[in-house]
Amino acid sequence: MPTWNPDVYALYRAYRERPALDLLTALPRDLAPDEIWDLGCGPGEQAALLAARHPEATVHGLDSSPEMLERARGLNAKVDWVLGDIAGFAPDKLIDLLFTNAALQWVDDHETLIPRLANALAPRGVLACQMPVIADVAWRETLAEVMATGPWADRLTGVEGVRHTRDARDYYDWLAPICPEIDIWTTTYLHALHGQDPIVDWTMGTTLLPYLDALSDPAEKAAFLNAWRGRLAKDYPRRADGATLFPFTRMFIIARRD
Ligand SMILES: C[S@@+](CC[C@H](N)C(=O)[O-])C[C@H]1O[C@@H](n2cnc3c(N)ncnc32)[C@H](O)[C@@H]1O
Repeated sequence: MPTWNPDVYALYRAYRERPALDLLTALPRDLAPDEIWDLGCGPGEQAALLAARHPEATVHGLDSSPEMLERARGLNAKVDWVLGDIAGFAPDKLIDLLFTNAALQWVDDHETLIPRLANALAPRGVLACQMPVIADVAWRETLAEVMATGPWADRLTGVEGVRHTRDARDYYDWLAPICPEIDIWTTTYLHALHGQDPIVDWTMGTTLLPYLDALSDPAEKAAFLNAWRGRLAKDYPRRADGATLFPFTRMFIIARRD
């Protein structure tokens, strides 16, 4: 598991928060949950929002990063913070709302994970999930090329990073036998980022973490990032107004049990 830094992750908080809020807004209005889990809760803002919205509910926030959970505890929200791995998640009670924002892309084997999570839902329970879609995006492709072609290639081979989400129709197929109500959609946000290297800064908080962890030599780390910066400048030039436009697609899933 990579080492997360809540401060670096928070650099683009407004942009990262938006899809989480869009997911929360799409929850069924009649949902009155008793048991709520936020898987991969990170610094805990959404679990805290859920606890405020449903004061009668028991809310759990699970994350594998002690650093993120320490930040979450600082919110002083009525949430049971749990250190754990989504891959081994096995709750004692059926769940009325299983919320997971920008986390499942770090977990393998969605073909078994997604039905397993849906099967943990109580009757009329809801799975609400958001994941980035990174297939065929230029920044991800150039990152893969730079990783594979530099002197660091050996050290980066086999390092597990963000997984590619599968096609939306696969998620529908896995959920349909369990959840008769399924809503899946994608949204592309056009982030207008500012700063010298905003895409590097953005990915330092997430995507780059396992690769930077694998490169222990600071000089090599710097050379690796410089090589990628050169590629990014071509695909994502800074505009005259100072903004770097960074389109970012995310897949949303709301699935409800009978
Ligand atoms: C991009 S952050 C999202 C955090 C939060 N959900 C949000 O929307 O701000 C991804 C989070 O997933 C957590 N994570 C990644 N893999 C995990 C796993 N296998 N089990 C539990 N948490 C995991 C990371 O520690 C990190 O806090």
